[in-house]
Amino acid sequence: MKAIYLTGFMGAGKTTIGEALAERLALPVRDTDKEIERTTGLTIKQIFEEHGEQYFRDLETEILKNLPKDNIIITTGGGIVIRNENRIYMKESGVIILLHADLDVIYDRIHHDSNRPIANKKSKEELVTLYLSRESYYEDCTRKINTDNKSIDDITE
Ligand code: S3P
Repeated sequence: MKAIYLTGFMGAGKTTIGEALAERLALPVRDTDKEIERTTGLTIKQIFEEHGEQYFRDLETEILKNLPKDNIIITTGGGIVIRNENRIYMKESGVIILLHADLDVIYDRIHHDSNRPIANKKSKEELVTLYLSRESYYEDCTRKINTDNKSIDDITE
């Protein structure tokens, strides 16, 4: 079976659903952000602070392409879709499942999270603007799942 890529905006529930899906399908799950932290020995926050976003994006692409492509669930960072080459790669090597949640819910989940440098201290308007700038990339997926008011079991099913 080809890889299942779980993507979506920050706070959409990719990690939680990825773990639940992995258990259900008895498949391994890997997360691009965790792989970046493991290989660099730095947190995502440190990478943004010390090296900047472009450096992070280069690492993200490299990590994505080095992960296994079969019988695996891969949860991605929410910005992975902004690079065409990443979307093309994910489509060719697997299916892309987009998790979508209400932006008010997402805002409440992420705006105080200092481990998410892209979201930290941003106003709701700024986050909505960021989301809208990425929307067409997110929609360019194999299947979209709206997670609002659904249990982890329902979403995973
Ligand atoms: C980012 C999302 C983060 C992480 C990094 C950048 C983004 O992952 O990759 O902070 O640009 O949307 P999550 O979507 O898991 O928060």
